[in-house]
Amino acid sequence: MKKLLCLLAVLALLAQPLRAEAAPQRYLALTFDDGPDPEQTPRVLDTLRAHGVRATFFLIGEQIAGHEDTVRRMADEGHQIGLHTWHHVSLKGMTPDQITSQLDQTRAAIRETVGPVDLMLRPPYGFVDDTLRQWAKAPIICWSLDTEDWKDPTPSRITADILRQVKDGDIILMHDIFDTSVTAALAAVDQLLAQGYRLVTVEELFAQ
Ligand code: NI
Repeated sequence: MKKLLCLLAVLALLAQPLRAEAAPQRYLALTFDDGPDPEQTPRVLDTLRAHGVRATFFLIGEQIAGHEDTVRRMADEGHQIGLHTWHHVSLKGMTPDQITSQLDQTRAAIRETVGPVDLMLRPPYGFVDDTLRQWAKAPIICWSLDTEDWKDPTPSRITADILRQVKDGDIILMHDIFDTSVTAALAAVDQLLAQGYRLVTVEELFAQ
Protein backbone atom coordinates (compact mmCIF):
# COMPACT_ATOMS: atom_id res chain seq x y z
CA MET A 1 0.00 0.00 0.00
CA LYS A 2 2.81 2.38 0.91
CA LYS A 3 4.54 1.61 -2.34
CA LEU A 4 1.35 2.32 -4.25
CA LEU A 5 0.86 5.66 -2.47
CA CYS A 6 4.46 6.54 -3.20
CA LEU A 7 4.00 5.69 -6.86
CA LEU A 8 0.84 7.79 -6.99
CA ALA A 9 2.66 10.73 -5.42
CA VAL A 10 5.44 10.48 -8.00
CA LEU A 11 2.90 10.29 -10.80
CA ALA A 12 1.08 13.33 -9.42
CA LEU A 13 4.33 15.29 -9.36
CA LEU A 14 5.18 14.21 -12.90
CA ALA A 15 1.73 15.22 -14.09
CA GLN A 16 2.00 18.75 -12.74
CA PRO A 17 4.25 20.41 -15.27
CA LEU A 18 2.16 18.83 -18.02
CA ARG A 19 -0.99 20.26 -16.57
CA ALA A 20 0.56 23.72 -16.44
CA GLU A 21 1.36 23.68 -20.16
CA ALA A 22 -1.24 24.88 -22.64
CA ALA A 23 -2.82 22.22 -24.82
CA PRO A 24 -0.99 21.93 -28.16
CA GLN A 25 -2.53 24.00 -30.94
CA ARG A 26 -4.82 22.02 -33.24
CA TYR A 27 -5.19 22.90 -36.92
CA LEU A 28 -7.84 22.27 -39.56
CA ALA A 29 -8.23 23.10 -43.22
CA LEU A 30 -11.73 23.82 -44.47
CA THR A 31 -11.92 23.28 -48.23
CA PHE A 32 -14.73 24.35 -50.55
CA ASP A 33 -15.14 22.73 -53.98
CA ASP A 34 -17.09 23.52 -57.14
CA GLY A 35 -17.19 27.32 -56.90
CA PRO A 36 -17.04 30.14 -57.48
CA ASP A 37 -20.77 30.52 -56.93
CA PRO A 38 -22.20 34.04 -57.23
CA GLU A 39 -24.37 33.74 -54.10
CA GLN A 40 -22.83 31.14 -51.80
CA THR A 41 -19.12 31.91 -52.19
CA PRO A 42 -19.47 35.54 -51.00
CA ARG A 43 -21.46 34.27 -47.99
CA VAL A 44 -18.56 31.96 -47.09
CA LEU A 45 -16.04 34.75 -47.61
CA ASP A 46 -18.01 37.15 -45.40
CA THR A 47 -18.04 34.69 -42.52
CA LEU A 48 -14.39 33.71 -42.88
CA ARG A 49 -13.47 37.39 -42.85
CA ALA A 50 -15.66 38.10 -39.82
CA HIS A 51 -13.83 35.35 -37.90
CA GLY A 52 -10.39 36.18 -39.26
CA VAL A 53 -9.87 32.62 -40.57
CA ARG A 54 -8.68 31.22 -43.88
CA ALA A 55 -9.82 28.37 -46.12
CA THR A 56 -9.03 26.80 -49.48
CA PHE A 57 -11.24 27.03 -52.57
CA PHE A 58 -10.87 24.49 -55.40
CA LEU A 59 -12.36 26.19 -58.45
CA ILE A 60 -14.06 24.94 -61.59
CA GLY A 61 -12.37 26.80 -64.43
CA GLU A 62 -15.43 27.44 -66.60
CA GLN A 63 -17.22 29.16 -63.69
CA ILE A 64 -14.58 31.84 -63.21
CA ALA A 65 -15.70 34.06 -66.11
CA GLY A 66 -18.16 36.62 -64.76
CA HIS A 67 -17.12 35.93 -61.14
CA GLU A 68 -13.60 37.29 -61.24
CA ASP A 69 -14.32 39.70 -58.37
CA THR A 70 -15.15 36.79 -56.07
CA VAL A 71 -11.96 34.96 -57.05
CA ARG A 72 -9.89 38.12 -56.53
CA ARG A 73 -11.48 38.53 -53.14
CA MET A 74 -10.35 35.01 -52.16
CA ALA A 75 -6.77 35.90 -52.95
CA ASP A 76 -6.94 39.37 -51.39
CA GLU A 77 -8.32 37.97 -48.13
CA GLY A 78 -5.57 35.38 -47.77
CA HIS A 79 -7.37 32.24 -48.89
CA GLN A 80 -5.75 29.55 -50.96
CA ILE A 81 -7.04 28.84 -54.47
CA GLY A 82 -6.70 25.48 -56.18
CA LEU A 83 -7.73 23.60 -59.32
CA HIS A 84 -10.85 21.46 -59.67
CA THR A 85 -10.69 21.00 -63.50
CA TRP A 86 -12.32 23.09 -66.21
CA HIS A 87 -15.58 21.14 -66.61
CA HIS A 88 -15.80 19.28 -63.30
CA VAL A 89 -14.89 15.95 -64.87
CA SER A 90 -13.20 12.88 -63.47
CA LEU A 91 -9.54 12.90 -64.52
CA LYS A 92 -9.25 9.17 -63.99
CA GLY A 93 -8.77 7.31 -67.26
CA MET A 94 -7.91 10.49 -69.18
CA THR A 95 -4.94 10.76 -71.52
CA PRO A 96 -2.09 13.12 -70.63
CA ASP A 97 -3.38 15.59 -73.25
CA GLN A 98 -6.88 15.59 -71.79
CA ILE A 99 -5.53 16.09 -68.26
CA THR A 100 -3.29 18.92 -69.40
CA SER A 101 -6.16 20.62 -71.22
CA GLN A 102 -8.49 20.46 -68.17
CA LEU A 103 -5.83 21.77 -65.82
CA ASP A 104 -3.94 24.28 -67.97
CA GLN A 105 -7.13 26.10 -69.01
CA THR A 106 -8.11 26.39 -65.35
CA ARG A 107 -4.60 27.50 -64.33
CA ALA A 108 -4.69 30.20 -67.00
CA ALA A 109 -8.12 31.48 -65.91
CA ILE A 110 -7.04 31.68 -62.26
CA ARG A 111 -3.69 33.33 -63.00
CA GLU A 112 -5.28 35.87 -65.35
CA THR A 113 -7.54 36.81 -62.46
CA VAL A 114 -5.20 36.83 -59.45
CA GLY A 115 -1.69 36.76 -60.90
CA PRO A 116 0.98 34.07 -60.51
CA VAL A 117 0.07 31.56 -57.78
CA ASP A 118 0.99 27.96 -57.01
CA LEU A 119 -2.05 25.77 -57.51
CA MET A 120 -2.79 22.44 -55.88
CA LEU A 121 -5.31 20.05 -57.45
CA ARG A 122 -8.42 18.59 -55.90
CA PRO A 123 -9.44 15.87 -58.36
CA PRO A 124 -13.25 15.71 -58.83
CA TYR A 125 -14.76 12.79 -56.87
CA GLY A 126 -11.29 12.10 -55.44
CA PHE A 127 -10.59 9.90 -58.49
CA VAL A 128 -6.86 9.50 -59.15
CA ASP A 129 -4.78 7.16 -61.30
CA ASP A 130 -1.11 6.84 -62.26
CA THR A 131 -1.46 8.93 -65.43
CA LEU A 132 -2.93 11.77 -63.39
CA ARG A 133 -0.16 11.49 -60.77
CA GLN A 134 2.36 11.81 -63.56
CA TRP A 135 0.68 14.67 -65.48
CA ALA A 136 -1.08 16.77 -62.83
CA LYS A 137 2.01 18.97 -62.39
CA ALA A 138 0.49 19.92 -59.02
CA PRO A 139 0.20 18.40 -55.55
CA ILE A 140 -2.98 16.29 -55.46
CA ILE A 141 -5.04 17.04 -52.37
CA CYS A 142 -8.02 14.91 -51.40
CA TRP A 143 -9.56 15.13 -47.90
CA SER A 144 -9.71 13.35 -44.55
CA LEU A 145 -13.25 14.32 -43.50
CA ASP A 146 -16.10 14.11 -46.01
CA THR A 147 -19.28 15.82 -44.86
CA GLU A 148 -21.25 14.27 -47.77
CA ASP A 149 -23.04 17.60 -47.90
CA TRP A 150 -24.29 16.85 -51.42
CA LYS A 151 -25.92 13.58 -50.34
CA ASP A 152 -27.79 14.65 -47.22
CA PRO A 153 -28.00 18.44 -47.26
CA THR A 154 -29.53 18.94 -43.79
CA PRO A 155 -27.38 21.69 -42.24
CA SER A 156 -27.72 20.46 -38.63
CA ARG A 157 -26.66 16.95 -39.70
CA ILE A 158 -23.61 18.26 -41.58
CA THR A 159 -22.50 20.47 -38.68
CA ALA A 160 -23.01 17.64 -36.17
CA ASP A 161 -21.01 15.22 -38.36
CA ILE A 162 -18.10 17.66 -38.59
CA LEU A 163 -18.04 18.25 -34.84
CA ARG A 164 -18.29 14.53 -34.04
CA GLN A 165 -15.56 13.38 -36.43
CA VAL A 166 -13.10 16.27 -36.44
CA LYS A 167 -9.51 15.79 -35.29
CA ASP A 168 -6.24 17.68 -35.42
CA GLY A 169 -4.88 18.01 -38.97
CA ASP A 170 -8.13 17.28 -40.80
CA ILE A 171 -8.85 18.50 -44.31
CA ILE A 172 -12.63 18.94 -44.46
CA LEU A 173 -14.47 18.64 -47.78
CA MET A 174 -17.45 20.92 -48.40
CA HIS A 175 -19.07 22.66 -51.37
CA ASP A 176 -19.68 26.39 -51.62
CA ILE A 177 -22.50 25.95 -54.11
CA PHE A 178 -25.27 24.75 -51.79
CA ASP A 179 -27.07 27.12 -49.45
CA THR A 180 -27.38 24.23 -46.94
CA SER A 181 -23.65 23.39 -46.98
CA VAL A 182 -22.69 26.97 -46.44
CA THR A 183 -25.14 27.31 -43.53
CA ALA A 184 -23.63 24.16 -41.99
CA ALA A 185 -20.04 25.29 -42.58
CA LEU A 186 -20.70 28.65 -40.99
CA ALA A 187 -22.21 27.05 -37.88
CA ALA A 188 -19.26 24.66 -37.69
CA VAL A 189 -16.71 27.50 -37.90
CA ASP A 190 -18.11 29.09 -34.73
CA GLN A 191 -17.96 25.84 -32.80
CA LEU A 192 -14.56 24.73 -34.10
CA LEU A 193 -13.07 28.05 -33.05
CA ALA A 194 -14.73 27.68 -29.65
CA GLN A 195 -13.04 24.26 -29.36
CA GLY A 196 -9.67 25.92 -29.95
CA TYR A 197 -9.02 24.84 -33.54
CA ARG A 198 -7.10 27.17 -35.84
CA LEU A 199 -8.61 27.24 -39.33
CA VAL A 200 -5.90 27.55 -41.97
CA THR A 201 -5.30 26.91 -45.65
CA VAL A 202 -4.07 23.51 -46.88
CA GLU A 203 -0.64 25.03 -47.49
CA GLU A 204 -0.50 26.38 -43.95
CA LEU A 205 -1.69 23.06 -42.56
CA PHE A 206 1.18 21.25 -44.30
CA ALA A 207 3.63 23.83 -42.99
CA GLN A 208 2.51 22.91 -39.46
NI1 NI B 1 -16.39 18.74 -57.12
